[in-house]
Amino acid sequence: MPLFKLRFPPSALAVARSMADLLAERATPPALAVTLFENGPGRFVVEAYYATPPCLADLARGAWSLATPMPSPVLEAVPDQDWVALSQAALPPVAAGRFLVHGRHDRERIRPQRMAIEIEAGAAFGTGHNATTTLCLEAIDRLVRRRCFRSVLDLGCGTGVLAIAAARAIPGAHVLAVDNDPLAVAVAHTNARLNGAGPRVRVMAATDFAHARLRRPRGFDLVLANLLPGPLIALAPAMRRGLGPRGIAVLCGLLDHQARELIATYRAAGFRLAARSRRAGWTVLTLERTADSRR
Ligand SMILES: C[S@@+](CC[C@H](N)C(=O)[O-])C[C@H]1O[C@@H](n2cnc3c(N)ncnc32)[C@H](O)[C@@H]1O
Repeated sequence: MPLFKLRFPPSALAVARSMADLLAERATPPALAVTLFENGPGRFVVEAYYATPPCLADLARGAWSLATPMPSPVLEAVPDQDWVALSQAALPPVAAGRFLVHGRHDRERIRPQRMAIEIEAGAAFGTGHNATTTLCLEAIDRLVRRRCFRSVLDLGCGTGVLAIAAARAIPGAHVLAVDNDPLAVAVAHTNARLNGAGPRVRVMAATDFAHARLRRPRGFDLVLANLLPGPLIALAPAMRRGLGPRGIAVLCGLLDHQARELIATYRAAGFRLAARSRRAGWTVLTLERTADSRR
């Protein structure tokens, strides 16, 4: 199918937003698809796609409602491409430690191996293409080589990729995967079964440690939490209560410059920093619960 693209010069976010709304909903003909993305600090580019070249004069006439005049776009024909192959090529398998995370489209190419994890890109976070997930997978791989874990909690499981990895790498462990987004819970449940980890990975909806099933008398041996710095900081006391003696927390979702505050907060809550690694501006922290009986 032929495809034509209108690309507008960068503008401020408010202007770009109203232009994108106009092109998608009110202008004639309406665009098949409209994208809005940041192209440098404070500069936003709008692109609109059409099956036939739109009349620029008609579009300009229809733009009377915009607060500022519509900037002149560039119209170009989009070369015919194999869009499915292109989008699949954009999601190649990701290696992290001994794990290999891949989509359904790569299933046939991946030799059956214990550490291969199939995750289809979709509504939940965690295909391995974000550095925070990769950092967590590498941390899991390093930890399981050195220590034995019997109970693992994936707090904020998204697709369930970390829980599945833990179940693969630690054959005897009980793994609980929780998320506060019901959609992610459903996706993680499907992925656990798809990857043959269904019986070992229990998935349920929960926020933080609030659910009764997360309050275990002996605590978890390992908690994986790829969240955001704010929630991770707020979680520090609950994390300590949720872990057993010498339990390990793997914390991710923080930028390099946010690590110092996280480390200080967790030290104050009764943890010691066991390891730290970085990639693409992101940091993962491995913290061990200290045995301070005064707490
Ligand atoms: C960045 S994703 C991480 C997904 C996956 N664990 C990974 O490492 O790729 C964070 C997930 O945590 C969930 N989440 C955020 N805050 C949460 C909370 N307080 N309790 C439970 N889940 C939470 C979100 O819905 C999201 O699915």
